Amino acid sequence: LNEPLLGRRSSIYKYRGYIYPEFIANKTHQIHFFKTREDDVWIVSHPKAGTTWMEEIVYLITSDLDFKTAGEKTLEDRIPYFEFEYPGLQHIKNMPSKRIIKSHLPMSFLPNDIKKTKPKIVYVARNPKDTVVSYYHFHKMLKVITYSGTIDDFVDSFIDGKCIYSPWWNHVLEAWKQKDNENVFFVKYEDMKKDIKSVIREVSKFLGKSLSEKEIDQIAEYTQFDKMKNNPMSNYSWWKESGFKDGQTDFLRKGIVGDWKNELQQVHVHAIDKMVNEKLAGSGLVFEDSI
Ligand code: A3P
Repeated sequence: LNEPLLGRRSSIYKYRGYIYPEFIANKTHQIHFFKTREDDVWIVSHPKAGTTWMEEIVYLITSDLDFKTAGEKTLEDRIPYFEFEYPGLQHIKNMPSKRIIKSHLPMSFLPNDIKKTKPKIVYVARNPKDTVVSYYHFHKMLKVITYSGTIDDFVDSFIDGKCIYSPWWNHVLEAWKQKDNENVFFVKYEDMKKDIKSVIREVSKFLGKSLSEKEIDQIAEYTQFDKMKNNPMSNYSWWKESGFKDGQTDFLRKGIVGDWKNELQQVHVHAIDKMVNEKLAGSGLVFEDSI
């Protein structure tokens, strides 16, 4: 598919009701038939939900607080991005257990094998206003995305379900419907911001680890926004040369709830509220957009 939609790469790929980056196009079969393992941990989200934050937390929990390796290897090398070109499915297939895998695919497009092997899945969701603002800035910083529109255009695309990994509402709802499955942990960015220690405690319980209060404190401290922003192993600075436009390095941009108030116009706030009311109605899924 090669049409000039807003907020996307040079080409995108439509598949089973979602919009994907073009690198998915030649590997849908491999994705469907990828062999998962019972002891995998998957971190799944719509982009800009706080995935990176959760990745660092899950890595530290799973590795029994291996700060040494965390400080030596980039997050992307420790936790591969499943559907991305690098390191690729073949590499992930050969990784030793215990694998931690990040994906932005919606639940319905994760490998079929997941239903059988039931690996643990941590799904992170964030209120749509902050998600769209964060996503807009992300589009502005990536070389590979030739996006020249305004934030107004971008919000329209998001509401129309035309951004990459859109529609957002289906993405979060699919996960929300599975939130009571034993192998699924659904967490909101806003709750992470409100009380990260509780979230770390719950995630560790979900992953079958019991952490001391001291260990929880250590993880909370290591994953503070400013610490991660300045940590070359978590802040995507390894993308600086190849991936980011000149002068753009802030993958960890603001890290707050409510930045949309500085960026969105009333008309867009209303449009997003309308989208939420229509699409999430009756689901029980609600987001706080200020805390
Ligand atoms: P902002 O652009 O609003 O700052 P993802 O990892 O899913 O791409 O999400 C990125 C968003 O999560 C960015 O939001 C980023 O700043 C925020 N984030 C990353 N690490 C964080 C942390 N340790 N604490 C709070 N927010 C964090």
